[in-house]
Amino acid sequence: MATKDTTKKPAAKAAAPKSAAKPASAAKSNGLSQSSVQPVLNQQTGSPLPLQKYGTVSQRLPIGLADKVRMDSVTMLNQMLADTITLRDLYKKHHWQVVGPTFYQLHLLYDKHYEEQSVLVDTIAERIQILGGVAIAMAADVADLTTIPRPPRDREEAPVQVSRLLEAHQIMLKNSHDFAKRADESGDDGTNDLVVSQVMRTNEMQVWFVSEHVVDTPLARAD
Ligand SMILES: [Fe+2]
Repeated sequence: MATKDTTKKPAAKAAAPKSAAKPASAAKSNGLSQSSVQPVLNQQTGSPLPLQKYGTVSQRLPIGLADKVRMDSVTMLNQMLADTITLRDLYKKHHWQVVGPTFYQLHLLYDKHYEEQSVLVDTIAERIQILGGVAIAMAADVADLTTIPRPPRDREEAPVQVSRLLEAHQIMLKNSHDFAKRADESGDDGTNDLVVSQVMRTNEMQVWFVSEHVVDTPLARAD
C-alpha cells in the first residue's frame, strides 16, 4: 500500500522564485526554508538614501504647528540636546574621578545628577522627533555642536570639578531662558513648557546642590 507523501510542499511554496529554492533536506520542520530566517546583513553599505535628512522637519504628526515654528524649535532643541548630553557626561567623568574628603558625597551626588540629566536628554530628543525633526545623537556630532567647553582628560581637584559643572549649568540656563522666550513667542507651548518645567528647574536645582560645596565656611569654629 502506498504511503501518503507528507513532505510535499504547499502550492505557494512551489511558486517561490528559483533563487530562494532549497533542497528538501534544508527545509525546517516548521515549514520555513533556511533562507527565510537569515538576517539580511550589510544593508548600510552603498549609502542608501536616508528616510529624513538632519536639519529638516516633516509634517508627519498633526500637532498644529507650522513648519517654520517646528524648524526653529528643533534647531534650538538640538543645541540644548548637545549641551545636555555634554553636561550629563561631565557628571559621569567627575563621578569616576572625584577625590578628597568629600569623595563619598560628591561621588553619589554626581551620579544622581547624571541620571537626572539622562532623563532630560531623552525628553529633549523625543520632543525633537515629535516636532518632525531629527535628534542629534552620536558623540562626534555632539562635540561639534555643544557650546560647553571641553574639559581635559586629566583628573582634577573637586573644587575645579564643581567650577566646571557650574559653568556648564550657567550656559544651559542662559540658553534655557532665551529658548523658552522664543518658543513662547512662536506659539510652541509644548517646547516652552519642557524648557521651563524640566530643563530649567532641573538645572537650577542642581546648581544649588553643587554650589554649596564650594562655599568657604569655617570647618570647626563659627566666625
Ligand atoms: Fe558608578
